[in-house]
Amino acid sequence: MDLLIKNGTIITSTETYQADIAVKDGIIAAIGKDFPEDGATVVDAQGKLVLPGAIDAHTHLAMPFGGTISADSYMSGTRAAACGGVTTVFDYPVQRKGMSILELVNEKKAVCEKEACIDYALHCCITDLNGGAILEEMEKAVEEGISSFKCFFVYKKEGMMVDDGTFAKLLLRAKEIGAMINIHAENPDLIDLNIEQFQKEGKTSAWYHYLSRPEFVEAEADKRAIHWAKSLDAPLYIVHMADKEGLEAAIDAKRDGYEVFVETCPQYLEFTSEVYKREDGRNFVCSPPMKGQESQDALWKAIKTGGIDTIATDHCPFQSYEKDWGKDDFTKIPNGCAGIENMYPYMLAAANEGKITFNKVVELCSANPAKIFGCTQKGSITVGKDADIVIYDSEKDFTVSVDTMHSDYDHTIWEGKKLHGYPVMTFSRGKLVYKDGEFVGKPGWGQFVKRVGRK
Ligand code: URP
Ligand code: ZN
Ligand code: ZN
Ligand code: ZN
Repeated sequence: MDLLIKNGTIITSTETYQADIAVKDGIIAAIGKDFPEDGATVVDAQGKLVLPGAIDAHTHLAMPFGGTISADSYMSGTRAAACGGVTTVFDYPVQRKGMSILELVNEKKAVCEKEACIDYALHCCITDLNGGAILEEMEKAVEEGISSFKCFFVYKKEGMMVDDGTFAKLLLRAKEIGAMINIHAENPDLIDLNIEQFQKEGKTSAWYHYLSRPEFVEAEADKRAIHWAKSLDAPLYIVHMADKEGLEAAIDAKRDGYEVFVETCPQYLEFTSEVYKREDGRNFVCSPPMKGQESQDALWKAIKTGGIDTIATDHCPFQSYEKDWGKDDFTKIPNGCAGIENMYPYMLAAANEGKITFNKVVELCSANPAKIFGCTQKGSITVGKDADIVIYDSEKDFTVSVDTMHSDYDHTIWEGKKLHGYPVMTFSRGKLVYKDGEFVGKPGWGQFVKRVGRK
């Protein structure tokens, strides 16, 4: 064996038990007791929890957006991920108009081969069907391990928006080839209408970002997406769910037996729309925006009752000077916030406080994203799976600060957040990549996760 993790308490999505883990060639080779040490590296996890690494199924690394590029590269973003107990990130490369999706995927893979510090998977954002050629190409992409595609109902001026007809074609094609469509659901026309009105009235602070995209703007689009998915009997994954009404429609669809999956993000669980009234409200600007207390309560309730399938970050940070572009005009604020290093510690601290169970956190942050997106080697501490393992000290107190994060941005919405319990080690395929506050991995270690399709 190469590595033995001894005396820890193993947490899976369904079980909590004491056992040792033996790792060979990056794979969990055995789980049990009294393994011979035989020159293996031995880690004593006495008094600690031993969890599968998190899978952040929603990030935007080095993404051209909002007139700039998101602040974390594939290097710094995956480095920060490792330090927050994430062992697989999914990025969302965006197809430029007219571009082939395989060309886009190969472009990103070439960068990640050099930069990725942990394993990475790719969803692909489709903005243009290229006269139907993309519908053909999707099948090849699935064979290459890209089994999910995203579309945006918004971001018209960025050239990313798709109309309902395109969305429907993509849903049908995805169903046919064993793939899935992920949707950013907000109504672009309602947003434009609201923005036009606010601009006329000279209402330009970050608060009006929220008021231009309030609950019903998201709910309308969630319900429309769900309606299409149900009508076509195609699987659907709704990203960054933040509103109660849309969430309830998704839960109803699940109850009726449809494959509608729901993701939410830690920022919607922690902050409400009140943050947009703050002097630094622009730093919290993301789309969809944080919503009111009622929506936040509904999200927590759905976490407990099974209405939410995954937690992911939507990590898309921008520097302060870029956020400042919108100091006097909320429409100029690049949309997106940081979170890649905060998700697992935040959710685990919620478990440590007794709000949810540790098993639930593993389910939402690791087991479910692995299952839903076809990462067969990931998401569980089980013999034969990759040794993507996090050791968690439930007694360690940690206060989030941009100074102790491992990203390249200069501020964070999580500044000052106090967490009871924190990861102390992260292993990526058996290799130690994070220890006691320090990144100890290396760029280029991360491998492409070739995913299986849904049939
Ligand atoms: O504000 C956000 N969420 N920015 C990233 C792009 C997206 O919509 O996911
Ligand atoms: Zn989005
Ligand atoms: Zn929603
Ligand atoms: Zn996103």
